Amino acid sequence: MKKISKLAIGSIVALSAGVSAACADKLTLYCSAQEDWCQLMARSFEDATGIDVNMTRKSSGETFAQIKAESANPKGDVWWGGTGDPHLQAAEENLTAAYVSPMRDQLHDWAISQATSAGDKTIGIYSGALGYGYNTDLLAANNLPEPSCWKDLLKPEYKGHVQMANPNSSGTAYTTLASMVQLFGEDEGFEFMKGLHSNINQYTKSGSAPIKAAGRGENTIGIVFMHDAVKQAVSGFPVKVVAPCEGTGYEIGSMSIIDGARNMDEAKKFYDWALSTDAQNLALEVNAFQVPSNKSANTSPSAPDMSTIALIDYDFKTYGSSAERKRLLKKWDEDVSTLPQ
Ligand code: G6P
Repeated sequence: MKKISKLAIGSIVALSAGVSAACADKLTLYCSAQEDWCQLMARSFEDATGIDVNMTRKSSGETFAQIKAESANPKGDVWWGGTGDPHLQAAEENLTAAYVSPMRDQLHDWAISQATSAGDKTIGIYSGALGYGYNTDLLAANNLPEPSCWKDLLKPEYKGHVQMANPNSSGTAYTTLASMVQLFGEDEGFEFMKGLHSNINQYTKSGSAPIKAAGRGENTIGIVFMHDAVKQAVSGFPVKVVAPCEGTGYEIGSMSIIDGARNMDEAKKFYDWALSTDAQNLALEVNAFQVPSNKSANTSPSAPDMSTIALIDYDFKTYGSSAERKRLLKKWDEDVSTLPQ
């Protein structure tokens, strides 16, 4: 009898714990910015709201593929960060949900136009210019000239010294591919990617990995967003940041609510909070030097000054469209990645 009542009490306790866990406010966050920024955003939102956050960091292309694979039974609620192109593709494929935040009028026009071009299924949270960085000690030790243009990276003496991510997994690398096509035209852009391929020592999964490797002295030149190279330099590594002489592309880092989100109320709370000045100011605590989309948020003096960089008029509508992103990635897979090195 004693045993039975103990058991019964035990299961009532377990049951009520289960019920309260099921009722607890929670959010599943897919994050495609830097890991430390993702962690800080998740923990700060928990502190601000009491909503538990389960966060996973994956690169932009990988997160797009995951959301697509899960679309019959969505597991994520919000996708925060990562380059805008795959967010736009997700919007076009109805993988993300329309939402107009009351915070929208606090944002720069470039962030709002990302939303309006996608039926409000995504929005801009930061922007940053593409470029590269190099380890000055390794460059000197290898007697290599200082590169300053995209085309410098094709010189034979840089063979084995250049690293970039794979454009299928990484938004940074897709931005590189789409920028070269826009800067030089499709044929010349692909010739550039083929020439670069001969000098590449490794295609990484994540976009910022090549400059982290350069910071550690394991790679010489990393093609990344300039703010990722600045982060290494500010951390004390011998990294020099380059805004390539021909001009360059840029990203509108974006945020989207996943269509069919299980925790839709919490997703909207996160979305509104992530557009606030306070949330965007968190970036500086982890040396994330992107330009924030909230007009009142702070930009670090160390951040690359976008007004002095020759930016192309990146065509987000075209290069973020499902057909074009698929086509360019397929062409890169078939015509570039298979070439001998
Ligand atoms: C870094 C940059 C972000 C960018 C992201 C894309 O974290 O700081 O500005 O959006 O890379 O990551 P991915 O791994 O998809 O290239």
